[in-house]
Amino acid sequence: MKELKYKRNGTKTSSFGTPGRINHDSSEFYDSKLYADKKPPEKVKFIENCIPAETLDKIYCKSSETMNNIPDCSVHLMVTSPPYNVKKEYDKDLSLDAYRTLLKAVFKETYNKLVTGGRACINIANLGRKPYIPLHSYIIEDMLEIGFLMRG
Ligand SMILES: C[S@@+](CC[C@H](N)C(=O)[O-])C[C@H]1O[C@@H](n2cnc3c(N)ncnc32)[C@H](O)[C@@H]1O
Repeated sequence: MKELKYKRNGTKTSSFGTPGRINHDSSEFYDSKLYADKKPPEKVKFIENCIPAETLDKIYCKSSETMNNIPDCSVHLMVTSPPYNVKKEYDKDLSLDAYRTLLKAVFKETYNKLVTGGRACINIANLGRKPYIPLHSYIIEDMLEIGFLMRG
């Protein structure tokens, strides 16, 4: 019965807690000062290019800074566990700036390869204690600058 009532009327942002979300009206939330300088993303044309069959199911042993074997706007999901720059045998012992530049180059290239609305998932560890280095926050900053939108 409750569900039916919500379906007819729809829920809206409540003054305390979240009782449910059905046909939800969140306009009150988005009218808040928190969102005063933020606009919802504009509607863009969906672009999806085909990946040639001969390109699929192959491992390309090269840096992901350039992925010219893959057409732009052709990938729906990128998942990576990038190097953490912690002196593993595949790491280059880069400064934080140089490391961020490397990852940013890869994520910029990823952005080009993803279809409109494509997703990127990054597995990253924060490092050290003296002081603690919150790599995840730098990566979020760099990805927002590239044009990625965060997903909750
Ligand atoms: C944290 S490990 C992830 C390993 C991976 N999850 C696996 O199971 O093989 C990081 C990997 O990134 C690779 N790597 C380092 N620099 C790279 C680059 N510029 N482009 C692509 N891969 C890179 C390393 O060789 C290493 O295999």
